[in-house]
This record gives sequence, C-alpha cells and structure tokens, in this order.
Amino acid sequence: HPSHEFCAAGGGDSGGGCGGGGDGARILIKGGTVVNAHRAEEADVYIEDGVVVAVRPNIPVGDDNVRVIDATGKYVMPGGIDPHTHLAMEFMGTVTIDDFFSGHAAALAGGTTMHIDFVIPVNGNLTAGLESYKQKAANAAMDYGFHMAITKWNDEVAREMEVMVKEHGINSFKFFMAYKGSLMVTDDLLLQGLQKCKSLGALAMVHAENGDAVAEGQQRMIDLGITGPEGHALSRPPILEGEATARAIRLAKFINTPLYVVHVMSIDAMEEIAKAKREGQRVIGEPVVSGLVLDDSWLLDPDFTIASKYVMSPPIREVGHGKALQAALSSGILQLVGTDHCTFNSTQKVFGSDDFRKIPNGVNGLEERMHIIWDSMVESGKISITDYVRVTSTECAKIFNIYPRKGAILEGSDADIIILNPERSFVMGAHAHHSRSNTNVYEGRKGKGMVEVTISRGRVVWEDGILNIAPGSGRYVRMQPFGYVFDGIEKSDAAYRASLRAPVQRGKAVA
Ligand code: URP
Ligand code: ZN
Ligand code: ZN
Ligand code: ZN
Repeated sequence: HPSHEFCAAGGGDSGGGCGGGGDGARILIKGGTVVNAHRAEEADVYIEDGVVVAVRPNIPVGDDNVRVIDATGKYVMPGGIDPHTHLAMEFMGTVTIDDFFSGHAAALAGGTTMHIDFVIPVNGNLTAGLESYKQKAANAAMDYGFHMAITKWNDEVAREMEVMVKEHGINSFKFFMAYKGSLMVTDDLLLQGLQKCKSLGALAMVHAENGDAVAEGQQRMIDLGITGPEGHALSRPPILEGEATARAIRLAKFINTPLYVVHVMSIDAMEEIAKAKREGQRVIGEPVVSGLVLDDSWLLDPDFTIASKYVMSPPIREVGHGKALQAALSSGILQLVGTDHCTFNSTQKVFGSDDFRKIPNGVNGLEERMHIIWDSMVESGKISITDYVRVTSTECAKIFNIYPRKGAILEGSDADIIILNPERSFVMGAHAHHSRSNTNVYEGRKGKGMVEVTISRGRVVWEDGILNIAPGSGRYVRMQPFGYVFDGIEKSDAAYRASLRAPVQRGKAVA
C-alpha cells in the first residue's frame, strides 16, 4: 500500500505514531455514494492501516481478512471536524463536564472524528497552558488539534506564540473581546496579537462582543431586578456583537491579516462579515449549531433547569437570527459550522440561580452537530450534500491547513469516515446522548438522517448504536502555519507599500 506521507506529518506531542490504533485493520466500504466537497460519486472505499488506500467503483474483495461494509443507499462522507469545543475547560469557577474521553465518545457517536479545542493559558502563560491541555487530552479517543487563547500581553507571550507555532503545531490564536475581568483583551492587546499572528502565519480568532458594554448591560439588568436567565440575553444584545465584530474586522484590515470570527450568533455580526467579504477582506465566519437552530424563547422558561441550559455567549438570539444565519451559510457568507461545545450539568448551572451573571456559559452540540446540520440544511434543501461535507469537515481542514489528510476521502487521507443513512430518523436527548451532561439543549428534537457507522483512523468505533473506543488512542494533530487564507497577503502588502511611496503630485486632482 502507499507510503504514509500524511502520517509522517502527523506525529505529535502526544498520542501514538503512524497508523495508531488503526494499524492492521483492512476495511472495504461497498456500494455507497462517496461524498467529498468537490464531488459525489458512486464508489467503494478501501482502507488499510488507518489510511484511505483507494476510492473507485467496484473494488474487488481481496481476501478474508478484509472487513466488508455494505453502504448501498447510504452516503459515505469524511468524518466531521468541529472547529470549536471546550473539553475539560476551567471556566466561570467550575470545569466543563465533558473531558477528552466523554467528549470524544459523544463526538464519535454523532459522526465527528476530529475537533480543535482551545488551550487556555495558565495565568497568561502559554507553555503552562499547553502542558495542562496535554494532560487533559491524555485520555483522548479520537484525533484533536489545539487553538490557543491569548489573555495577556508581554514580550514573553510574543516569544511563546512563536514557539507554539514552530514547535507545537498550533496555527491559530483566539482573542476574547468579552469576559471582562477574566479572559477579555483590550484593543491594544488585540492589535499586538494580530500583528504577531500575521508574522507567524497564524490565524487570529475573535470572540466578538464588547465586554465593557456587556458589564454595563449586566448591571443595568440587575438594577432593574432582572436576575433570571432572560437577563443574560437582554444584557448583551446583538448590537454589542455587531460592534465588536466590526471593530475586529477593521483592526484586522488595518494590520492586513486574515480574521476568523467564532460563534457568529446574530444578523448584526453576520452583516459585518458579509460587508467585509464584499470588499475583498479575508474574514471567516463560524456559526454554531445552537445559533442556527435555537431561539431565545427558551430563556424565559419558568423552570430554571431548562432556561439556564440555553445560557451561552454570545446569547442565542430572538427568532429570525437563526434563519438568517442559515441563509448566510448556504450562500457562503459563513463558511463552516462549529458547536462551541461547552457543557455544564444542571448542578453547575445552578450557581447562577439568583444571578444570571453566575450561570456558567455554554451549551452542548458535539454529538448533535452532524445530524442537525444534515436535517436542517440538507434535508430541507438549503444546501447540497457536497456543501454539507464542506461546511462540516473540508472547510475546517483547509482553513487550519490539514487538508487533504483530513476533510476528504482521497487516496492517502486519514480514514476518518462516516456512513449516513438518509432514510432513518433520530430523536435527541439526555437519555440517549454520550455526553456526561444531564441535560441537552436539543432535548426531544427529531429529524431525518442517521450516522450508522463512524470510522476513526481506520477503526470502526460506532456501529449499530454501540461505541467501541479506547482512552488514549486519540492522536494530536499538528497544524502548520500559513494556510491558504494567507495566500496573497504578502503581495497585497507590497502593493499597499508601493501605493504609499508613489510620487504624490500636490495640487493636482487624482483620477
Ligand atoms: O458560552 C460560551 N460560549 N462558552 C464557551 C466560551 C466561549 O466564549 O467560547
Ligand atoms: Zn502501514
Ligand atoms: Zn467565545
Ligand atoms: Zn467557545
């Protein structure tokens, strides 16, 4: 079989080497429709040693040691890649309930085979943050990568950013413009960070809400006696998301570096992204499942356990925003779908029972994303099956520079594959999910399309409703800097410098 050129690039700080848990397994998926972002075709897929070896019609069954899976009438697609999760994250005085094992169980049962989590520095220190997340990920059961948050600024942070990119396979940094008093950064820090990201070829990401105004809005609600979960959404309206999105976009334009806006929750933020894109700026918008399909009416539920599970930031918006975000996703204004999976039990949400400001922020979605996007976008006719693969997998792999090892079913790609039966239906809820959370924001949600089989690096890990996973089998995926979003940045910088140096003819009108 072909050499493992992708494996060689994949050796990581932790996890196994080439082949990993998949070594030795040989699988032939027969009779399905193979869907990649560039095309769908009737073809078989042959897998060996955790890698896709062949994709073409009528591959003969070689010998008895090959496991044959019949995919007739089903879609064979790249496993989902979730660009936005928070497993085992220390946040708002507690820790998210899903760690790298339960989170991976949930992901794999839902057809997601890789995710990128956010390393949070320890007291601003990146190296300590990475060490801590390596430990957290020791029980990983599928492949994962890291983004890193920047919460402080000094020369050491700038040096450490370089080390993260050059030695540790991190190619993106997130700046929180909200969470005043904890994670929030100033415009000054954001500017320094954007400049550093640009020089390293790392993608700058922003949580875009005006944190100062949010703090003001929260006090306003408390003064009005609004202390319940509905106060959360009222205290941080869409205009604050729109303002911060616009500000981040303009600062990124000033620096001339690509920008990735995480969890786009409102029309206000989406319109800023659309406008920047129309003007040719490199801005990537990531909607999350909750923002696409839920609305803020849940926050008014008289049962605190129910209302509080919908508290996340930016907030889930009023009816209308979700549909607009779906339309933006189908038209390419928004490019890929994440979850912001950040789960807390009802026993943790209750910390804010008399003050919404203390409700740990976050919702589930890692297990539900692939099914909800299929049902709400493909089944409804809003996007094609190839676009489904693009927004759930391929685009993420391209942006974070791991394509086509991930995000495709091509010769040489990692065998991260799902088989979806479009005729079966699903019902979601805490009774059936694999997350450790005792609640689910999609409780009772029904839809069409079922991921029947998940293959993670050549191992069948989900089949007939049974998970077969091993803690520690997940592998760290290094991501190289200067992905495609940086193409042309140098040239446009040169053009800009040339325009400044061009002789200025005073007193003459410029055409
Ligand atoms: O409410 C949220 N989104 N919690 C996770 C942290 C973040 O802002 O992404
Ligand atoms: Zn091999
Ligand atoms: Zn955020
Ligand atoms: Zn997040």
